[in-house]
Amino acid sequence: MLRTQILGTGFVVGEHLVKNDDLTRVMDTSDAWIRERSGIEQRYYVKDGTTTTDLAQRAAEKAIADSGIDKNEIDYIVFATMTPDHYFPGCGGILQSKLGLKPIPAVDLRQQCTGFIYGLQISDALLRSGAAKTILLVGAEVHTGFMPWTQWDHLFGLGGEAPTAEQLAWNSTFRDRTVLFGDAAGACILRASESKSGLIGFEMHSDGSAYKDLYVPAGGFAQRPYITEEDYRAGRHIPVMNGRGVFKMAVTRMPEVIRSLCKSNGVEVEQIDLLIAHQANLRINESVQKTLSLPNERVYNNIQSYGNTTAATIPIAFDECRKSGRVKSGNLVCFVGLGAGFHWGAALLRA
Ligand code: UT7
Repeated sequence: MLRTQILGTGFVVGEHLVKNDDLTRVMDTSDAWIRERSGIEQRYYVKDGTTTTDLAQRAAEKAIADSGIDKNEIDYIVFATMTPDHYFPGCGGILQSKLGLKPIPAVDLRQQCTGFIYGLQISDALLRSGAAKTILLVGAEVHTGFMPWTQWDHLFGLGGEAPTAEQLAWNSTFRDRTVLFGDAAGACILRASESKSGLIGFEMHSDGSAYKDLYVPAGGFAQRPYITEEDYRAGRHIPVMNGRGVFKMAVTRMPEVIRSLCKSNGVEVEQIDLLIAHQANLRINESVQKTLSLPNERVYNNIQSYGNTTAATIPIAFDECRKSGRVKSGNLVCFVGLGAGFHWGAALLRA
């Protein structure tokens, strides 16, 4: 059986470590609220000027080194992000150039928090059809461009002016979302070979009917021009989110898709050795774990350290599990995610 193997992995985070308490310098929030509602303790933000493709390049170089391949063996790039360097072109081609690769094909995926799992499925299809031999799959995000504040030096503890009362109130308008996200990239090298191990199944879904529960109202071609001064003043370039609605969807859809995928692949949920769910909120993942009756040692979470890094959460968690010995040969690993769109899905990997 021709199966896709993950040959190597790597990840990087933004240059600035930002603890929950640091965020109280720019908005009305608290370490206690953030920990209690999301489990997050800290996240990393990039320094000004570092882009999504910069992080992707660093993560890709680590994954290439880890896999032991020559970078020139990569013949396809699949890039998942919701925070591209530019509206267009996509990040895949920019990454090809930054890595100094030949003019190989490069595609961008826009499935947000499920981007990496969609990337695995599309890569698997490209590899098993023979359209590609060695794929670099990246999930990378720089969310800080979405943040409403301008007092960056003050936030990082580098001096700089504190926000005025008016600025603090403005920044706090978005606090339910801004406390959740961090900047990071995760990458892996994929190849197919005749083997019992590798990616064994996927189940993916999309349903756009509730897309306004998590989206960016402005900066799109549903309006003319696609961004206005008024949009900026009103903060319509910043995502809006129905947090409770997204929470409910996640705790319903993720267990549902895992059960269905296990059934179609002839395995029981209790046979999953390691569940790696998208890291959006620790409380969501605890609920999924409880619904599936999985013990703690079979579930890995790291949102405490990185926040929600959207397309990067799953490759980061998988890299940490591989390198700390939590993934053993023969283990059944399940990846699951749900995000804006809404898109959700799961994948099974026999390690
Ligand atoms: O990758 C997919 C992306 N998104 C998600 O998965 C998000 C899923 N949803 C969630 O994670 C949760 O809904 C949140 C963590 C976003 C919010 O938690 P919640 O328990 O749903 O809180 P809430 O939005 O209903 O707000 C409760 C209270 C409100 O105050 P009042 O009206 O009760 O006085 C908020 O104003 O908490 C307040 N609040 C905050 N307080 C301090 C909201 N954000 C903050 C904050 N700091 N950062």
